Amino acid sequence: MPKSTLASRAKSRASSMSSPEPLRIAMVGHAFMGRAHSNAMRQVNRFFDLPRMVVPQIVVGRDAERAAAAADQFGFLESAIDLDHVLAREDIDVVDVATPNDSHYAITMAALEAGKHVLCEKPLAMTLQQTKEMAALAKKKKLRVGLWHNYRRAPAVALAQKMILRGDIGKVRQVRAVYLQDWLADASVPASWRTDKKLCGSGAHGDLNAHLIDLTRALTGLEFESVCGMQQTFTTERPNGSGKGKSKVDVDDAFCFLAKFRGGAIGTYEATRAAPGRKNYNRVEISGEKGSIAWNLERMNELEVFLLDAPRDAQGFRTVMCMDSVHPYAANWWPDGHIVGYEHTFVHHLADFVAALCANKPFAPGFDDGVAVQAVLEAALQSAKSGAWAKVAR
Ligand SMILES: NC(=O)c1ccc[n+]([C@@H]2O[C@H](COP(=O)([O-])OP(=O)(O)OC[C@H]3O[C@@H](n4cnc5c(N)ncnc54)[C@H](O)[C@@H]3O)[C@@H](O)[C@H]2O)c1
Repeated sequence: MPKSTLASRAKSRASSMSSPEPLRIAMVGHAFMGRAHSNAMRQVNRFFDLPRMVVPQIVVGRDAERAAAAADQFGFLESAIDLDHVLAREDIDVVDVATPNDSHYAITMAALEAGKHVLCEKPLAMTLQQTKEMAALAKKKKLRVGLWHNYRRAPAVALAQKMILRGDIGKVRQVRAVYLQDWLADASVPASWRTDKKLCGSGAHGDLNAHLIDLTRALTGLEFESVCGMQQTFTTERPNGSGKGKSKVDVDDAFCFLAKFRGGAIGTYEATRAAPGRKNYNRVEISGEKGSIAWNLERMNELEVFLLDAPRDAQGFRTVMCMDSVHPYAANWWPDGHIVGYEHTFVHHLADFVAALCANKPFAPGFDDGVAVQAVLEAALQSAKSGAWAKVAR
């Protein structure tokens, strides 16, 4: 099959579309998240009725050949290496930022200046100051922005959020959140941008705690008051990517922190990329006055629910399978019980973003949420350094 077949099919599909109006996306970066985002772009109008048709228009990379190959494989119409030129185009509506953390700020600011709506990967930027500037510019330009904290949109998480916010477990007292991976447990795994502070900002903390902070803010509506953190780097140098020599690792392998929330609730957070056996164990448990709810990404369609209002002798955690048509997003997919997976969280995220953009309504998580997450990340880093509790900036 000729290399350009996918792209030419997509081209003829786009040109034969009379309605709905296309929403053209330029995606910057085309590896792990590029694959996940572009899959969502291609699925979203097949499963969600949206006022506009998402068109994966152009992939922007740093190497022309690799960007063209990605465009072909992911179903984009074009590829480019000159971002400024892409931003100057009038037909591009949305810029999707799927690059390492150090580039989010510059790409997003340029896209907003050019009048584009932006979807950006997490963590939003490298510093609190940068996130504030990004949020301020988006507001000034009246553009729609979103942050890819996709776990909010697992059906079971969306159900848990609904249950907690409507009071099913009463006032929230405690948050327990862990995000455990093991891919850096092995000291022979090479260094990458994810182990280099100037490219990523922090290690497991910015990578995984960022998700936990967003997830638990969304689930509970709680805001952080102060935090007390500690971090450890177990492997302080790794083979470098070129296969010659070693590179210093200057970010955490594991980062834990305690949290006090405004209003009296407390929380514990743990992120690690060095927990042998744990692949993507992202689990949050929320305890309230009248019950508890827990969710674990590795069993992502299930919710563990304990409610105190059952008779004492019939109490216990029960498992709710959140793939019935009454559950969030489930009816958009398959018959009851025909479960969904990791990639669907990105489809849901994009569907809600497009709906918000078309209705000119705010989308969450937006950049203000990115600011709030960054404030917690930074306070925890400051605390880990000083050994004292740190206030979270408001
Ligand atoms: N939402 C999630 O669940 C999730 C999961 C993984 C990663 N992420 C985030 O997504 C972002 C990308 O991570 P990834 O796993 O896809 O990384 P990756 O290393 O797999 O891909 C990064 C891509 O960006 C390109 N790139 C690097 N610097 C660039 C620049 N300055 N300009 C243009 N392109 C550039 C690379 O060539 C590559 O295509 C990170 O911010 C990461 O924290 C989020």
